[in-house]
Amino acid sequence: MRGQQHRNRIGAVVLLGLPGSGKGTQAGRLAAALGVPSISTGELLRREAEKGTALGRSVQEIIARGKLVSDELVTRVLAAHACSSSFRNGFVLDGYPRTVAQAELLDSWLEQRDLGAPRVVYLDITAEEVKARLMNRLECPQCGATYGTATDLSSRDGCCKKDGTRLVHRLDDNAASILERFRQYELNTQPLIAHYEARGLLRIAAAGSPDDVFDRILNSLTTAEPDPARTVKTARVMAAASVAG
Ligand code: AP5
Ligand code: MG
Repeated sequence: MRGQQHRNRIGAVVLLGLPGSGKGTQAGRLAAALGVPSISTGELLRREAEKGTALGRSVQEIIARGKLVSDELVTRVLAAHACSSSFRNGFVLDGYPRTVAQAELLDSWLEQRDLGAPRVVYLDITAEEVKARLMNRLECPQCGATYGTATDLSSRDGCCKKDGTRLVHRLDDNAASILERFRQYELNTQPLIAHYEARGLLRIAAAGSPDDVFDRILNSLTTAEPDPARTVKTARVMAAASVAG
């Protein structure tokens, strides 16, 4: 029975990639298609920063400088968020893990919940391409929606199409912070890619339209899975139906 339950679960899908590679854009789509929640540790930390507590202020300072928050703190924030029953069948992780230590913490966390090993999708794109995306990105300070000129032309009027709030640049989308985020990525996340490569990393070309990238991710998840493919194929049908509708 336990094995049967395991087969019916989506488990954890991890999205890895450079800042601006499209983790957030694809996490939302993938979560909707798979019928599980998505979690962005960047979002969770920004929410913590907004609280203005001593912890929030220190998190805000780290994010603004483009550094990484400690493994211990980010894991604590993630675990506190993902303890509800809505995460029981799985989730899409955007921005976690991003160090090998975090990957090991994730493995034991998933094992305790009988969710199996994570499936890891690496969004492969050059730093040159993502720099332009980051400098163009706008976000809604009210609802957190993200707008990029290439993905959403309605952001040109400068207001969120969901709630009308004036859009702003993210605190860490400036030349100095972007440079430091790339440096942190080289230092901490490149070794993580090597770590996962030995475990069946799915490498996805992340240039092209968000729709094309999404199709590549779903295709890759489908063909990489011997058994739970049924679930992902169902998700593809659902995704196609929602696009058609
Ligand atoms: P986080 O918020 O995760 O930032 P990041 O990793 O730098 O990534 P981004 O959110 O900037 O980019 P993305 O890959 O989500 O791309 P997006 O879809 O938005 O983390 C922020 C900070 O929090 C970290 O620096 C660190 O301080 C801390 N932190 C978070 N997690 C941590 C952890 N695990 N450990 C320690 N510290 C942690 O796309 C970017 C833009 O491009 C958008 O405008 C979008 O519309 C556009 N776009 C997307 N796809 C396409 C496409 N295919 N074509 C054209 N445009 C596109
Ligand atoms: Mg993001």
